[in-house]
Amino acid sequence: MRYDSVIDAIGHTPLVRLATGAETGVRVYAKLELQNQFGMKDRVAKGAILAAREAGELLPGAPIVESSSGTMALGVALVGTALGHPVHIVTDPRIDPITMAKLRSLGCRVHVVPRMTGNGWQSARLEMLEELMRTMPGAFWPRQYTNPENPRAYRNLAAELYEDLGTVDILVGAVGSGGSLCGTSRALREYLPRVRVVGVDSVGSVLFGQPDRPGRLQGGLGNSLMPANLDHALLDEVHWLNDREAFEATRELAAREKVFAGNTAGSVYRVLTHLSRTAPAGTTVVGIMADRGDRYHSTVYDDDYWTEKGLGHLRCAEEPERVPSGQVVSGWSVRDLTDATVGGAPCRI
Ligand SMILES: Cc1ncc(COP(=O)(O)O)c(C=O)c1O
Repeated sequence: MRYDSVIDAIGHTPLVRLATGAETGVRVYAKLELQNQFGMKDRVAKGAILAAREAGELLPGAPIVESSSGTMALGVALVGTALGHPVHIVTDPRIDPITMAKLRSLGCRVHVVPRMTGNGWQSARLEMLEELMRTMPGAFWPRQYTNPENPRAYRNLAAELYEDLGTVDILVGAVGSGGSLCGTSRALREYLPRVRVVGVDSVGSVLFGQPDRPGRLQGGLGNSLMPANLDHALLDEVHWLNDREAFEATRELAAREKVFAGNTAGSVYRVLTHLSRTAPAGTTVVGIMADRGDRYHSTVYDDDYWTEKGLGHLRCAEEPERVPSGQVVSGWSVRDLTDATVGGAPCRI
């Protein structure tokens, strides 16, 4: 496969059949978004930055700013610097050294906020980002939580799935901003109106009506704020996992399927293994696997970290408990969303 630029190479990711489901006749596939140069959000950065240039909102050579310590930062760094924009990433001291090295090597300026403010690290980062925007007139902020270009960037992912498989019965994805699962679901339903969409969240995240529990160890999915890009009407069901369940599943994904991935891919895998046991033979299931495992080497994949965090003391369920709306969960649980209204005012980020 040959491309004229690193930006053109974004997407076109492999779709790989997993071993789970082989015994029951359920066809389970992983969409390996982790095979993008940095991860799934390379697609969002490409969509948002190219659209802003096209609209004249981002002029040639103007700076781009973003607040993130993960896949979005890396995607913006990749696309922004490749197009010759100065890229400023605002982050906090929790950023892992591998991401930091990648950002710096691409030529980004990384701004680390020194301390939390009113609403923790999130508000500290937002305040610094707004300060940067004030000092750099013409700067563009992709705003993944509200920018419609985030979900729109997954139209291609949906087209790739349809082209590769012809049919998808169930789509599973982790939810952070909501962009990937909602965007893929919206576009896939144009080809396949009956596809069932299953979200995966973290215990203690507000995205599907649970109370916020700070100190969650899972990164990438879950949120303390409700993003405007999460459209609950596009999802049929949500699963929640606690930190141990998510991390065990991530290790299992590497050990059994040979996919060395981050914890959100692990959470998706846990739901895929459940569906491979419970869905009728012949069902086609796809899970989106967002990023690689490298930057989780000292957390998810590190026994000392598990001990330090007391992860072994958390419950680790074999099957999800089906819960009604409003029930607070502490471990693997599932809730139907088809008759639900899940509230919360969208956040401003
Ligand atoms: C590794 C990883 N997986 C999954 C997600 C969730 O994706 P989305 O924001 O599209 O809901 C994110 C979001 O940042 C992520 O970084």
